[in-house]
Amino acid sequence: MRKSTKQARIFEIPESPSYEEIMEEYAKEFRNFILPKGDTIFGFWMQTLADLELLDLELQGLTEEYRIDPVNRTVDFKGNDDLVRLRIAHLEKVKGKTSLYADLVDTFGDTNAYAFHNLYPYKGKFYPRVVRTLINAFKLDSNSLLLDPFNGSGTTTHEASLMGIKSVGIDITPMGVILSELKNDLPFADEKLLSFTIGDLQDILYAIENKRWQHDNPTIYKLMLVIYFDTVDAFARTSKYNKKGKLGLFVEKFNYVKNCYKKLKEIKEQYGLKFEKAKIINGDVLELKNMDNLKEKFDACITSPPYYFSIDYVGKDKIAYDYLGIDTKSIESKYLGMKTNRVVKGNYNGLPLKVAMYYEDLRESIENIFWALKPGGKLAIIVGDSTVNGKKIPTTLMTKRFCEEVGFRFEKLIFNPLLGLRNRAIRGESIIICQKP
Ligand SMILES: C[S@@+](CC[C@H](N)C(=O)[O-])C[C@H]1O[C@@H](n2cnc3c(N)ncnc32)[C@H](O)[C@@H]1O
Repeated sequence: MRKSTKQARIFEIPESPSYEEIMEEYAKEFRNFILPKGDTIFGFWMQTLADLELLDLELQGLTEEYRIDPVNRTVDFKGNDDLVRLRIAHLEKVKGKTSLYADLVDTFGDTNAYAFHNLYPYKGKFYPRVVRTLINAFKLDSNSLLLDPFNGSGTTTHEASLMGIKSVGIDITPMGVILSELKNDLPFADEKLLSFTIGDLQDILYAIENKRWQHDNPTIYKLMLVIYFDTVDAFARTSKYNKKGKLGLFVEKFNYVKNCYKKLKEIKEQYGLKFEKAKIINGDVLELKNMDNLKEKFDACITSPPYYFSIDYVGKDKIAYDYLGIDTKSIESKYLGMKTNRVVKGNYNGLPLKVAMYYEDLRESIENIFWALKPGGKLAIIVGDSTVNGKKIPTTLMTKRFCEEVGFRFEKLIFNPLLGLRNRAIRGESIIICQKP
């Protein structure tokens, strides 16, 4: 039996420990049973065999020598302890000290929604941890340049920025670009810019609804719009926010962003981190060769093309595009696989013409990435096999084939199962890793 921290005295009402005190003691004791024994231990978020492969991959990039003990969930390594502690994405403790990643997870209470990664519910987002792992595996540092030509909501560029690595993100959708820019700019914003009273927020909401919203600072201007789109979208999807009201939800979402800002600032100061701004471009991956000076510029590319018609990336942001007066048809026409004038040159063994056209675009995207990478440059491309008219289409192995056809040397394929997924059409995704010779 454990002793209570507070002593009961004679003739006084005995003071029993508070619920919080009991739970704190309980958590300490429970940790003894569940935490691996060692000074360098797995993070609790390591759940699958793919995670083990990812840990292996990043240890290859970060250490001189290592040994993983998967049964006891510990690691032994030789190398720069501080570097490993600041960069690794799969360990909770490194030589007895909490890793930066574990601190991010604890501070934000989530393995994916740390910093500004959860700013907006963009569909088909990367797991930031996978991006971090690949950056480590590719040994990128402050002199490297990373590319994501399907940058979407900017997970790659945001994670690179948090790790102090320069990057360029390209996406065809204006919403993707707005979100990537916000994630890029918010960590550098002045705290004073985020101080608004409820009255201010009420005025802002009113101004946005009446199309009169203006602000001198582009970050605040875009942030308020994005929070508004998210609020309206949440209202349209469910009645569960009716009680809070639109203003209540708008304020709640703003406070969430403000809290993320504060938490990130604290972590940045505590660890002495140096963030790096990315360059965000609204453009078409098929036009990469026409963009200024991108030939053989990049040390690595981490990217994920749109999964063939499994997600309507443009349609799901209809509220935003209607508000901004952007014609979604014109964006969709530039979408990978949506060009109507595509001449199909390859042999796709009787796959529907639309799928063949998508594959032609995918192949050309990979060719352009090859062109943009330096010799020796690394590529990680994340793909999944979707189903079209009840038939699975072989995108993963097709992607691998295209990589090899355009000149990449194939290195590794890691299959990452998506656990607990409702839509079983996509059972998981594969990370294909290649190198430009
Ligand atoms: C799987 S999503 C990438 C999501 C991203 N990894 C993230 O974390 O947000 C694929 C992205 O490719 C973009 N896209 C589609 N066609 C494109 C094109 N021709 N050029 C550039 N981007 C394109 C889509 O807008 C979408 O954001």
